[in-house]
Amino acid sequence: MATVELSRLRRTLGRWYRVNGRHDLPWRTTRDPYAVLVSEVMLQQTQVSRVHPRYETWLKRWPTAESLAEATTGTVIREWAGLGYNRRAVNLQRAAREALEKFGGIPTEEAKLLTLPGVGPYTAAAVACFAGDKRTVALDTNIARVVARTLLGEATARVPHKQKLKEAAKAWLPKRGTRAHQLAAMDLGATVCKASSPACEICPLKSDCTWLAAGQPEADPTPNGKVTAAPFKSTARFARGQIVAILAKDSPLPASSIAAQLPEEHQENCGRYLEALAGDGIVTFRKEHWGLAEDL
Ligand code: ADE
Repeated sequence: MATVELSRLRRTLGRWYRVNGRHDLPWRTTRDPYAVLVSEVMLQQTQVSRVHPRYETWLKRWPTAESLAEATTGTVIREWAGLGYNRRAVNLQRAAREALEKFGGIPTEEAKLLTLPGVGPYTAAAVACFAGDKRTVALDTNIARVVARTLLGEATARVPHKQKLKEAAKAWLPKRGTRAHQLAAMDLGATVCKASSPACEICPLKSDCTWLAAGQPEADPTPNGKVTAAPFKSTARFARGQIVAILAKDSPLPASSIAAQLPEEHQENCGRYLEALAGDGIVTFRKEHWGLAEDL
């Protein structure tokens, strides 16, 4: 896309964000890398509205990386209840512990962040940008879709090669003000340039959007999209979540009493799930009993 159009797109997005952005989200009013890391890990697979109250409770309980590092892992898993993927909680605490040891606190340098457990390329870039004001591409799903449509003319971010998306997103970054720019693209993706039924008629970028100019071509249906997923309650992920909930209420317990509290279809695999949870550092085994990590 021509440089002049890119700079117009930047300015238009900036103006839109100043009026329409979700500025009051609590993780946006802080530059504390620990708080931003907590928010990004919580937001990895959980909606903003569900994260909002949980983030505030978490930070009241553990306002610093030091306080989180000192908590027992069992307490951390209990506080995480309902946010899904308990491994994220365990990794977040491990990240706090490791960061304190290696760097004296949560860093804002992407390369350092990437060495921490559970911190992938997106989370590292997000903390670097949102806490450290670093000029780096944080390509979350909303930003990726906005870039795919506006700059590359594709209906979804699944189509362009990841590298191509990153290059386009990078070319779009302003010299200064990367943080606001990426939060703006994120909000546009979440509220206007939505995955299904995008509101192109009210989009501030509509006059420069490559996808709209091309007549909003549909993406080819992906085989993945067609596969019918197993009902959630039949999945191993559901069973593992149930086991953690059982142990959060009452532990230590022998495997047989945990299995007895699971839906029948999962009972025979209970041992396997417990081993997998132990491998992830979520539960531990002592004296023939299972408990949440560090509670035993
Ligand atoms: N603000 C900063 N990071 C965010 C995210 N991942 N989702 C929503 N708002 C955010």
